[in-house]
Amino acid sequence: MNISILGTGIVGRSHAEKLSSLGHTIFIGTNSVEKTRTSTKSDDMGNPAYGVWAISHPEIQLVSFQEAVNASDIVINALKGEISVQILSVYDQTLIGKILIDISNPLDFSTGMPPTLFVSNTDSLGEQIQRTLPKTNVIKTFNTMSAPVQVNPKSLAHGEHTIFLCGNDLVAKNTVISLIKSYGWTHIIDLGDIRASRGMEMLLPNWLSIWQKYNTPLFNIKIVTNEIPTQY
Ligand SMILES: NC(=O)c1ccc[n+]([C@@H]2O[C@H](COP(=O)([O-])OP(=O)(O)OC[C@H]3O[C@@H](n4cnc5c(N)ncnc54)[C@H](OP(=O)(O)O)[C@@H]3O)[C@@H](O)[C@H]2O)c1
Repeated sequence: MNISILGTGIVGRSHAEKLSSLGHTIFIGTNSVEKTRTSTKSDDMGNPAYGVWAISHPEIQLVSFQEAVNASDIVINALKGEISVQILSVYDQTLIGKILIDISNPLDFSTGMPPTLFVSNTDSLGEQIQRTLPKTNVIKTFNTMSAPVQVNPKSLAHGEHTIFLCGNDLVAKNTVISLIKSYGWTHIIDLGDIRASRGMEMLLPNWLSIWQKYNTPLFNIKIVTNEIPTQY
């Protein structure tokens, strides 16, 4: 199927590559197609510029945000958190009735490292996006681990680990669960409606501490209980 991704950073590219390998047709949206297509400078993390990465991914179609939103009924938000609401609000009409998979995190780097959260406790970026797009089915997921783990859960050697999701619409959630399963995820926990974005986003400070402790972003958490988990 057609799947669109807003955001050309490491998250957008990782999902583009994965979904393309699974046989989907991928449209990846950017602010300026020409600027992104011709970019050559690596980012601060050493990731190659989109223009360099794209040479080995000719099957992925780089388009404007509007073209990306037009092209698919499933759209992934892989935009920087601080500008997500602003950019998504421009496309509110085109996004009506569609599924928006929200991976963004509300990170605030204005006071340096480590980042803080610009919304938390009584609200979340997932909820802000859902309020901005009241007729779109926003499903928050993937935001609690690094991009390589998001798209390749089996890359972690020591067994099953957990991915969360939340959102208001059950049909949309089931569609996203199918997609998550197709990536290889087996331990999927539905945390309820979109308000559960608060907790999912507030895991980030802990994620940063674990990253510092192990000096690698290639890890995840696993929920263990005495209950028999729901099988997807
Ligand atoms: N990195 C991870 O492993 C990871 C893990 C979990 C969640 N997340 C979340 O996933 C999202 C994407 O992360 P990322 O690291 O791939 O990329 P990012 O650098 O946070 O964002 C990349 C995208 O945001 C757009 N953008 C950035 N600043 C902008 C501005 N001032 N105005 C308009 N557009 C702007 C860029 O547009 P152009 O295409 O035009 O350059 C690009 O498409 C973020 O919300 C992040 O918090 C990241």
